[in-house]
Amino acid sequence: MERIISAKPREEDFVLDKGLRPRQLVDFIGQDKVKENLSIGMTAAQGRGEALDHTLLYGPPGLGKTTLAYIIAAEMGVNIKITSGPAIERPGDLAAIITNLNKGDVLFIDEIHRLARVVEEVLYPVMEDFSLDLVIGKGAGAKSVRLNLPRFTLIGATTRFAMLSPPLRDRFGAVYRLDFYGQDAIKVIVSRSARLLGLEAEEAGLEEIAKRARGTPRVANRLLKRVRDYAEVKAQGVITEKVAIEALGKLEIDSIGLDEVDHRILHTIIEKFNGGPVGLDTIAAAISEEADTIMDVYEPYLMQLSFLERTPRGRVATRFAYEHLGLTYPKDKAQQAGLW
Ligand SMILES: Nc1ncnc2c1ncn2[C@@H]1O[C@H](COP(=O)(O)OP(=O)(O)OP(=O)(O)O)[C@@H](O)[C@H]1O
Ligand SMILES: [Mg+2]
Repeated sequence: MERIISAKPREEDFVLDKGLRPRQLVDFIGQDKVKENLSIGMTAAQGRGEALDHTLLYGPPGLGKTTLAYIIAAEMGVNIKITSGPAIERPGDLAAIITNLNKGDVLFIDEIHRLARVVEEVLYPVMEDFSLDLVIGKGAGAKSVRLNLPRFTLIGATTRFAMLSPPLRDRFGAVYRLDFYGQDAIKVIVSRSARLLGLEAEEAGLEEIAKRARGTPRVANRLLKRVRDYAEVKAQGVITEKVAIEALGKLEIDSIGLDEVDHRILHTIIEKFNGGPVGLDTIAAAISEEADTIMDVYEPYLMQLSFLERTPRGRVATRFAYEHLGLTYPKDKAQQAGLW
């Protein structure tokens, strides 16, 4: 079952996203450094009449990578083609896509860390020289041809920066990391979404949603939608603080946005493995979740909160995790850490 809090996209998001996804850079809230650098890059490229440099966007799910790719294409006034790493199985698939691009266009490759090796190798000269080397025919009669392509912009997105091969990384002219949003930025996003959805909401109600959104716009919008449903059924549609707290409580999301899976992860590390270190796969098996999901969706936020540390020997729960769960941090651990 997909969790409400999971930053991964869900079916319901597609309908919701359409209206709420910002279309211009000015409507994209937060990530100020990224926006500023992007804006400079785009203005400079436009001034020279060139395509924007190849751009890599990375960071946890739901923070706005896809949104930014659309915004870049819109701001540059070019077309965008969307594909993903696993969708491009063979070099021929890549060739079919890029030979259809026009000068300046954006090619967006989501989950770029999942590109097949053979495809990646064809991509290198494409990114570097805009030339595509194709082998036509088979066996002794095979011929290699080189096609010159129009200069376009490749935008890659990934949640796993470490999984990109260095040669691929190096071919991006600009690399931007998206971080979890601060409380204030999330509040602005929730308020904007509420306005766009035509909701009646009190500040304190929106605040409550923002507090539990894990610094993630996708989660913020999803929680808003759930609270709206609750408000319509129970409170004539008005999102007050009380309504928000009740609705979010029913979804089993705690005061800082942790859900049942987060709690199970922390309880497992603390109670079954004495606070760690314990390996990711062991945790995954203990709570019957996929290791990839834990790593991409749950751990980044737990680490952001300083509840969890990744060490070479495994995951460790920190004293903040103990305290949040209302557990006493063991004396020996505190002593070890020089805290006693
Ligand atoms: N800066 C922002 N301001 C307002 N809304 C935002 C912002 N960033 C993201 N959103 C909202 O959050 C939703 C999720 O963003 P998006 O799909 O771009 O995330 P992503 O980083 O591509 O996630 P994934 O890794 O799962 O592909 C968007 O549809 C949009 O409505
Ligand atoms: Mg995306």
